[in-house]
Amino acid sequence: MARVLVTRRMPPGSLDPLLDAGHELVGPPRDDRPMSAAELRIAAADVDAVVCLLTDRIDRSVVEVGRGRVRVIANVAVGVDNIDVAAAAEAGIAVCNTPGVLDEATADLAFLLILAASRRTTEAEADLRAGRWAGWNINDHLGQDVHGRRLGVVGWGRIGRVVATRAAGFGMTVRHHARRPTGDEGFVADLDDLLRWSDVVSLHVPLGPESHHLVDARRLGLMKATSVLVNTSRGPVVDEAALAAALHAGTIFAAGLDVFEDEPTVHPELVRAPGAVLLPHIGSATVRTRTAMGRLAAESVVDLLAGRTPATVVAP
Ligand code: DGY
Repeated sequence: MARVLVTRRMPPGSLDPLLDAGHELVGPPRDDRPMSAAELRIAAADVDAVVCLLTDRIDRSVVEVGRGRVRVIANVAVGVDNIDVAAAAEAGIAVCNTPGVLDEATADLAFLLILAASRRTTEAEADLRAGRWAGWNINDHLGQDVHGRRLGVVGWGRIGRVVATRAAGFGMTVRHHARRPTGDEGFVADLDDLLRWSDVVSLHVPLGPESHHLVDARRLGLMKATSVLVNTSRGPVVDEAALAAALHAGTIFAAGLDVFEDEPTVHPELVRAPGAVLLPHIGSATVRTRTAMGRLAAESVVDLLAGRTPATVVAP
């Protein structure tokens, strides 16, 4: 029997694979808040595995505490930018993520943002709720069409491809950019060219040094004044201050964001920006998807503790 630290309360049933395998669960704090770095270091000192969330910063200091005992850190997310993966690899600790199970839910939300931002529904609904709606007006709340427009998908992993299948139903023309040629129709080697061509840009890249502020002021300047930017990947992929400035200046039409540079803080200029549709990182937030994510992380830990290597291992 192994001791497994679970840093937050998980959806019902998602940890059953660990319990069924006879492992002991440790944590989370009673009030179910993110653990501080100090708390994580203390908690990681006497466990064999960690199940954590993207709000847990598993830095080198936490990894070092676990060196020699912790065998696996399973992140209940597909992105692992909250974990020092290199430090874990050096310490011989496997890092796992939850690929596959959240593609459809996240693609649904990306499409919701494409629709909501293009049609500026957040502002329209706010007007209605505030009693500012004086009746149907041919010139009010005019958005951009979604059907028949050009969608540029940045990052051609699982989620980006699923978004492209949604777009086909809306009669959109889809092109995509990735760091390496994909061999698929619609590949655009130069991101700048894709941004110039697209009416809607949807971001689906992992966060790393090469994607930090991938969409900055210069690249926002390549987009059309009628274009929409959607981000369901990681906040720091977009320079938020530059995006807020572009929205205020009207050099792009709208933005749909589910992720932010410094969550849960949202840049004040984005909150005030016209055309900004802002959601609190809910891309994968359906009961079925979040349960499946927890279950996959739990299964990965069970496998690794039993000496099997699951397909979810990111490193080493
Ligand atoms: C992930 O898995 O990385 C998502 O952001 C969680 O919704």
